[in-house]
Amino acid sequence: MAPAGNSTTKRKGINAILMGPPGAGKGTQAPRLAEKFCACHLATGDMLRAVASESTELGKRVKATMDAGKLVSDGLMIEMIQSSLDKPECKDGYILDGFPRTVPQAEALEEMTTRLQRPLDTVVEMSIDDKLLVERITGRLIHKPSGRSYHVKFNPPKVEMTDDVTGEALIKRSDDNAETLKKRLGAYHQMTKPLVNFYRERNLHTVVNAARKPQEVSETLNAIFRMALQRRQ
Ligand code: AP5
Repeated sequence: MAPAGNSTTKRKGINAILMGPPGAGKGTQAPRLAEKFCACHLATGDMLRAVASESTELGKRVKATMDAGKLVSDGLMIEMIQSSLDKPECKDGYILDGFPRTVPQAEALEEMTTRLQRPLDTVVEMSIDDKLLVERITGRLIHKPSGRSYHVKFNPPKVEMTDDVTGEALIKRSDDNAETLKKRLGAYHQMTKPLVNFYRERNLHTVVNAARKPQEVSETLNAIFRMALQRRQ
């Protein structure tokens, strides 16, 4: 436990990771948690989609990698998170959605958070059977500027194809099809699932059943985050 009065205990926000396969609900739950637990929401998929929409060499490379359902290089991802953690909106806490996705990324994060004296409070694995993810992914709609996500059946916008907050158009992600989903799930099981052991060894891992209704998942996540903050005291 951190000594009383140091920079870790003074910070009121949570430091957490939401991990889970594509469509588990990380992007649906993270913004609510970030607001409730005074943290910034760092979604590497959203950051990469911003890079991919630029007509630069890097943008084209990133888009091709994402559309193929593969992982972007560890070096680029680590650099992105390193600079994001320094932003003012992350000063009280951070919720990582989509990072780390490989053991080298997890090791780099550990090194960064130790150096910054902002260690993780909890790592939550959102667990769900692969079979349930096809419908979630193929029915998803997003508001690209904010990253807000909807679902044609499970969470429809008030007006068809329109963002509830800004009134702007919703789009389908170019990697949200059954074929690319198979590759993204393959990458998850091969490269990201080993992080469960990595964080179990550090006594940070908790698992939630993400196949339930969004409100039920949200209540469980709130309870886990509250307990994690209590442990810090
Ligand atoms: P990213 O954008 O992070 O995609 P992902 O991890 O595949 O996760 P998703 O955004 O697909 O799912 P989600 O869990 O957020 O689900 P959501 O809440 O939207 O990454 C995209 C790509 O970028 C990667 O493939 C890779 O190429 C690259 N990348 C990103 N980070 C990287 C890294 N660190 N290293 C290397 N490469 C990286 O929910 C899905 C749908 O289901 C929505 O429509 C939602 O409304 C609905 N829904 C949510 N919860 C429920 C529920 N409980 N019941 C019913 N429906 C629900």
